[in-house]
Amino acid sequence: MEKDSREIVTEENASLNNIRFSINDQPVEVKAAPADRLVDILRASLELTGTKISCGIGRCGACSVLMNGKLINSCLVLAYQANETSITTIEGTGNGNVDPVQEAFLQKGGFQCGYCTPGMVMAVKALLAEHPEPSEEQIAEGLSGNLCRCTGYTGIIRAVKKATASGCRQ
Ligand code: FES
Ligand code: FES
Repeated sequence: MEKDSREIVTEENASLNNIRFSINDQPVEVKAAPADRLVDILRASLELTGTKISCGIGRCGACSVLMNGKLINSCLVLAYQANETSITTIEGTGNGNVDPVQEAFLQKGGFQCGYCTPGMVMAVKALLAEHPEPSEEQIAEGLSGNLCRCTGYTGIIRAVKKATASGCRQ
């Protein structure tokens, strides 16, 4: 996997703006250049490394987080776009406990590698928020932006159905 070559802009660099947003229900303010990627701010500035970088171009879903409750690829969101938003990352699920969606992943073998799983969990949370009882097609559509080419989706789909049966909501 190619090493990400972007640098987080530090306070020594020019053209920094104050970016304010809520992260996992906590207000934060960071200094960033307008075109810094949200995923880099999360991982490097805020040390929330549960959100992964894989493709870096919006194809794999490893960097999935919720922005104002909607699933987004944080590698495609720039700092200025995150200003005044509410972001939820994998660290913010469950409010310090095991989130019911994570519990369903544990029980049904949905946890796979550390690259895809955080994004898959966030995608399932977004799916269940929109479709509390998703059809097979809605599950497939909900997971369509989150790629795994090594293990497959069987355990993840079982976990979605388990979460659905347990009445999970975002
Ligand atoms: Fe963002 Fe792949 S790292 S979609
Ligand atoms: Fe994580 Fe395949 S990418 S198990």
